[in-house]
Amino acid sequence: MATFRIIFFVTLLAALVLAAPTPARIKKRSFKVPRYINTPVHARGLDGGAAVRKVFNKYNLKGGFIALEKTGTFTGLGIKATNASSNGTGTVAANPGENAALFLSPVDIGGQTLNLDFDSGSSDLWVFSSDLPVQSTTGHGVYDKTKSASFKEMTGAKFQISYGDGSGAAGTVGTDAVTIGGVTVQNQAVELANAVSRSFVQDTNTDGLVGLAFSKLNTVNDGTKKIPQKTFFDNVMGDLDLPVFTADLDPDGTGVYEFGKIDATKFQGDMAWIPVNASSGFWQFPSAKFAVGDQIVDNPTASQAIADTGTSLLLVDQQVAEAYYSKVQGAQLSAQVGGFIYPCNAQLPDMSVAIGDSYMAKIPGSQITFATVDEANTTCFGGVQGNSGAGLQIYGDTMFKAQFVAFNGGNQSLGFGEKPPVA
Ligand SMILES: *[C@@H]1O[C@H](CO)[C@@H](O)[C@H](O)[C@H]1NC(C)=O
Ligand SMILES: *[C@@H]1O[C@H](CO)[C@@H](O)[C@H](O)[C@H]1NC(C)=O
Ligand SMILES: *[C@@H]1O[C@H](CO)[C@@H](O)[C@H](O)[C@H]1NC(C)=O
Ligand SMILES: *[C@@H]1O[C@H](CO)[C@@H](O)[C@H](O)[C@H]1NC(C)=O
Ligand SMILES: *[C@@H]1O[C@H](CO)[C@@H](O)[C@H](O)[C@H]1NC(C)=O
Repeated sequence: MATFRIIFFVTLLAALVLAAPTPARIKKRSFKVPRYINTPVHARGLDGGAAVRKVFNKYNLKGGFIALEKTGTFTGLGIKATNASSNGTGTVAANPGENAALFLSPVDIGGQTLNLDFDSGSSDLWVFSSDLPVQSTTGHGVYDKTKSASFKEMTGAKFQISYGDGSGAAGTVGTDAVTIGGVTVQNQAVELANAVSRSFVQDTNTDGLVGLAFSKLNTVNDGTKKIPQKTFFDNVMGDLDLPVFTADLDPDGTGVYEFGKIDATKFQGDMAWIPVNASSGFWQFPSAKFAVGDQIVDNPTASQAIADTGTSLLLVDQQVAEAYYSKVQGAQLSAQVGGFIYPCNAQLPDMSVAIGDSYMAKIPGSQITFATVDEANTTCFGGVQGNSGAGLQIYGDTMFKAQFVAFNGGNQSLGFGEKPPVA
C-alpha cells in the first residue's frame, strides 16, 4: 500500500518512550523472506485497462500528493496466498500481486498467518483484525486476538495512520509474538485495525503492513501524546549479523527480502553507500541530479527523495518527469489517466536518478513501462511519474526492480548495487 504518508496524530514531543519488546534470544544470524510468482493470480482475466484506470483514479489526490498505491486493482482478485510455510531456517514464502504491483510476505502473529506488505516508507505494523465489521474483511486474512495465547493488550493505546493517497487505518494496539522468516520477536507491537479505508478493503491480497522506516514515524498514541513503538526491524536489528535488510525485487515478481546479510552475488561491482537523512523518519537522501540516457542534468532545486518499497512507481519532481518524457516520442501527460502515457512501441531511454552525491541509480528503458492502459495494449503508462510538486521524490519499485538496495539501520545509510541485466 501506499506509503508516503501523513500522520494524523501530530504530537507534542514530550515522551518518545519506546516500549521494550524482547526479541527472541537468537544467535547473530540472518534470514530471508523470498517471494515467488503466484501464477493463478495472473491467470485470472482482469481487464488490464480498467484495472489501470481504477488504480490511477487513486492518484487524483487531495492536497497535491500523488498517491502511489500498489494495491488493489492489480491484486484484488480474491486470491489468498496459500503458501505460508515458515520453517526453522528462517525462510518464508511470499506472493507478489498482479503486475508485480505488490509484494507480500506471510507473517505469523501469535500463530495466525497474514499476508503483509513490507513497507520501507512507514513504521506501523498493523493488521486486519476481528474488530473490523465483517463486510470489511471478506477475502482477507484476519487476526483474532482472542485466539492468541500470547496477545497482550496495550491499555489505552491506539493508532491512526493515513497514507499519501488518502487511504488509512486506525484501531487499538497490543503486543504479540511476531515471526518473520523464522525469527520471532516476542512482544512486538501489533496494531489491530477496527477501521480501514476502502482501498484496503478491496485489496484482498493485503492483510496489513510491516513498516520498515524509522520507528519515530510510528503512530501509536494514548490520545494525548505519541507512544511510538519499535518496528520489527528495530527489534531484531541487534541480533542480526549485520544491522541491515535488503530488498531484491525483480521485474518478474520473484525476489527476496533478506535480513542480516548482504548477498553480493545479487548485484554488479561494489555497493555504493549513501548516508540517509533520517530526521523525517524516512530513508531519505538528496537526489539533485538525474540522467536521461547518458545525459546527466544537474537539478539543484530538486526535492529530497525517499526509498520506499511500499510504492509502485518512481515518483520524481514534475520537471524531471517532463524532461524524461520529452525524449519519448508520442508521450503525453494525460489528465484522464493521471500521468504520463506513450505508445507502447516507443523507444524508451534509460533513466537515472542520483542517490546522494556519489551514485546514480539507473533504470533501463526496457523496465520503465508500468502497465498498459487500453485493452489493445497500444498505450502504456510509465513507471516514472511526476510528483505534482509534492516536495518529496518517492523512489518505489520501478527503482527496486533495477537496483539491489540495502537498508542499514546501524549507521543509517543505504547501499545500492546495480542488478544484472534481465536475461
Ligand atoms: C510453496 O512455495 C515453495 C517455494 O517456496 C514451492 O516450492 C511450493 O511448491 C509452494 N507450495 C504451494 C502449495 O504453492
Ligand atoms: C525450510 O525451507 C527451506 C527453503 O524452502 C528448505 O531449504 C529447508 O529444507 C526447510 N527446512 C525445514 C526444516 O523444513
Ligand atoms: C555503513 O556500513 C557499511 C557496512 O555495513 C559500510 O560499508 C558503509 O561504508 C557505512 N556507510 C556509512 C555512510 O557510514
Ligand atoms: C533532512 O531532512 C529534513 C526533513 O525533510 C530537511 O528539512 C533537511 O534539510 C534535511 N537535511 C539535509 C542535510 O539535507
Ligand atoms: C494485452 O496484454 C495482456 C497481458 O499481457 C494480454 O493478456 C492480452 O492478451 C493483450 N491483449 C492484446 C489485444 O494483445
